[in-house]
Amino acid sequence: MAKAANTYLVQQMKEQLMSKAKEVLENNFQDGGFTIPSKGLYPFQWKWDSGFIALGYVHYDLEKAKQEIETLLDAQWENGFIPHIIFHNDSDTYFPGPDFHESHLHPQASKKVRSTGMTQPPVTGFILERMLEIVGDELLPFIKEHIDKVFENHKYFYENRDVNNEGLVYIYHNWESGTDNSPMWDDIWATMDSPEYEFERRDTTHVDPAQRPSKREYDHYLYIINIAKEHHYQDAQIAQHSPFLVLDPLFNAMLIKSNDALINLYKRIGDSEDKIAFLEAKQLLGKENFNKKLCNAELGAYVHYDLRKNEQIPFVCSSSFSPLFAGIPDTSRAKILVNTMIEKFGGDGRYLCASFDPSHERFNPKKYWRGPVWINMNWMIHHGLKSYGFDELAKKVKHDSLELIEQYGFYEYFDARKAHPEVTHNGYGGNNFSWSAALYIDFMTNAD
Ligand code: DGY
Repeated sequence: MAKAANTYLVQQMKEQLMSKAKEVLENNFQDGGFTIPSKGLYPFQWKWDSGFIALGYVHYDLEKAKQEIETLLDAQWENGFIPHIIFHNDSDTYFPGPDFHESHLHPQASKKVRSTGMTQPPVTGFILERMLEIVGDELLPFIKEHIDKVFENHKYFYENRDVNNEGLVYIYHNWESGTDNSPMWDDIWATMDSPEYEFERRDTTHVDPAQRPSKREYDHYLYIINIAKEHHYQDAQIAQHSPFLVLDPLFNAMLIKSNDALINLYKRIGDSEDKIAFLEAKQLLGKENFNKKLCNAELGAYVHYDLRKNEQIPFVCSSSFSPLFAGIPDTSRAKILVNTMIEKFGGDGRYLCASFDPSHERFNPKKYWRGPVWINMNWMIHHGLKSYGFDELAKKVKHDSLELIEQYGFYEYFDARKAHPEVTHNGYGGNNFSWSAALYIDFMTNAD
């Protein structure tokens, strides 16, 4: 009897949270047909956020899911580039805004809407494929209408950012990685002599500074943007002059996963042989060089690669496991990755999966991408593990994600330490964070 009552209460709590997740998305939805990640802290549309957000909507409000993708693609530049932030609206709660970024300096920038001149991980392709799986054939006309824009975005990457013609594309700014202040970048900052800028931070008026990047880090972030601006955001010039030029395993895994999705979708649509052939050639080359260049046998993980120094950046972080989601490692390498995850990131006292190696001295359990758990990374790692048959570990990653949200709320990131004396509340960063809510809906709707 007591057990039945308990099950009933748990069920009720989960239903309430599902409603709350939808409420978070509704409250963050804007008149222009897009959804902000979090009020105050992130008051515009972000590229990779929009993909995960669409995946939440697709389970209960198809129109909003479509709008989310459409408003993003509508900001595409003439050369296929899709920016990381789209300033559809004005806001004085965020720095640096459109006046700092000056995307119009690029001659092919959108004439309709202002944006940044940098991008973010290309998730839209695999999001479209998953939306089709959920909705069914009814979504095919929508996919047909928009897929070429995503293809053009991938073509842009290969034509402008694959400097060695190896099927791997560079990022020129830490904000392009999505893992903004990861300790991976510290050694790059050390090579830079950035000016000390005077500016007014806004993020630290919304969130405890202990959970955000430092002022000195922001100097570096602004300095790289200034260099890109000097060169009018021209890729060839950026590739020559940016002090930050990196092959990122997360970014490239997302591109490869989305290439696969585009190939599958074009096969469904038909009459797209040339595009399929283009993508398949990139897949072959990209996967081979990914395994050659970004794998670190000593660490048992994929790592970043600094194109300025021509050497690997030897740290393990949650991005190191993202290639599982894109089918990049063979089964024996996948097993090695799993062992690394369990040994370094696992253990009873910790939620999976910290964003940076918890055994490393640079790990910081509270500071943004220097340690906390992120729900979107867990979502990708969960699906990656499952696709290789690591079902138990996949379940644990999902279970940990749900437990963190159920106990603490729809936060931006979470402390990986369980029941630690220093931790009274594991939720950090922005609250009512859209992709945490959206992916909660997706996790809860799928039985796996
Ligand atoms: C920020 O402002 O911290 C954003 O994440 C940049 O993309």
